[in-house]
Amino acid sequence: MDPLSLKSLLLLLPLLGCCVGQGILPAGPVSALVGGNVTLKPLISYPPSVITWTFNGPNGVATFIGGTVIVEDAYTGRASLNSTDGSLTLSALTPGDSGDYNVNVITTRALFGETKLLVVEPVSNVDIKSNVPDAIEYNSTVILTCSAIGSSLSFKWINGSAPIVVDGTRITEIKTNSSSVLTIKNVLRTDLVGPIYCTASNSLTTKSTTTPFNLTVYYGPDDVTLTPANPPKFIQAGSTFNLTCSASSLPPASFTWYYNGTRIETSSSVLTLDMIKGYTKMANYTCRAENPKSKRSVPSPAVSFAIMEGISSVEIIGPT
Ligand SMILES: *[C@@H]1O[C@H](CO)[C@@H](O)[C@H](O)[C@H]1NC(C)=O
Ligand SMILES: *[C@@H]1O[C@H](CO)[C@@H](O)[C@H](O)[C@H]1NC(C)=O
Ligand SMILES: *[C@@H]1O[C@H](CO)[C@@H](O)[C@H](O)[C@H]1NC(C)=O
Ligand SMILES: *[C@@H]1O[C@H](CO)[C@@H](O)[C@H](O)[C@H]1NC(C)=O
Repeated sequence: MDPLSLKSLLLLLPLLGCCVGQGILPAGPVSALVGGNVTLKPLISYPPSVITWTFNGPNGVATFIGGTVIVEDAYTGRASLNSTDGSLTLSALTPGDSGDYNVNVITTRALFGETKLLVVEPVSNVDIKSNVPDAIEYNSTVILTCSAIGSSLSFKWINGSAPIVVDGTRITEIKTNSSSVLTIKNVLRTDLVGPIYCTASNSLTTKSTTTPFNLTVYYGPDDVTLTPANPPKFIQAGSTFNLTCSASSLPPASFTWYYNGTRIETSSSVLTLDMIKGYTKMANYTCRAENPKSKRSVPSPAVSFAIMEGISSVEIIGPT
């Protein structure tokens, strides 16, 4: 039998059902990086007299027959067949090398093996983007997109050191092969304290965002309070008494003051007696804190007091 017809026969063997159940290659898929090398090695116990490797059906890769290794033109310089152990090495791998590899071997008998090769691009360029530059607590929907270059990617989100928990309602995630889109509705100030990282992986490589991602969530004003909350009913004019308004707010709140509902001309967080000269009657004092970003304005509880003019010169007139 001349070598070429033997080769044809070998290609027919699997079709004839000759060697079913005699898989001599690991099932796979075997993963390898683009540009890298892979060696597919059949499990055989005796030196082969004939070996044929094919790709995606009938496409020849390399053959060992009559003591000679023949590498198909398409694989010149890229494929080598080891006639001792029957292994096929492919180098300078491209995504086009992904697919099914078959080997037919004749040792003391005919053997057949099949496996899958997956040539993956290494992960690179992991990047997080946001739909907004900043957000307002309770109002904003923040959409973060993590993307990367590479094949068959899976993504993970980390906030600080803990994974971001997707609850499927307020926080949802849509995954594709090349990105993960995290949607946070009615964002809370605690959602994105960060630093936020995204990690992309495939079967061979893993990469994270190199710079931490932060997104400022503006909040407040909350807890708008006056100090002291219970001032004395009568306050001595000229004393050091003052009222302080405070609020939890980002950015810091601006303040306005009211005397029985009428605006007092100051924007300080501290109201001094000097600022309310001339107001002496018992009155309600309140402050409003406004967040300059969200424009939310929240009043404090009111306090009330009257200011007593000091008695400047006291003359004690006793009984003579
Ligand atoms: C591929 O194999 C060649 C020769 O065996 C070696 O020089 C080269 O470093 C290998 N490349 C990779 C990416 O492993
Ligand atoms: C071929 O395989 C045998 C057995 O695994 C090994 O000893 C030998 O070094 C290989 N030859 C080449 C050229 O890689
Ligand atoms: C993000 O937040 C962390 C921790 O609060 C801080 O150290 C880092 O500088 C911030 N990065 C940016 C880009 O704002
Ligand atoms: C936030 O949402 C409330 C209620 O939906 C709305 O009234 C308010 O205008 C929103 N604030 C901002 C700053 O968008």
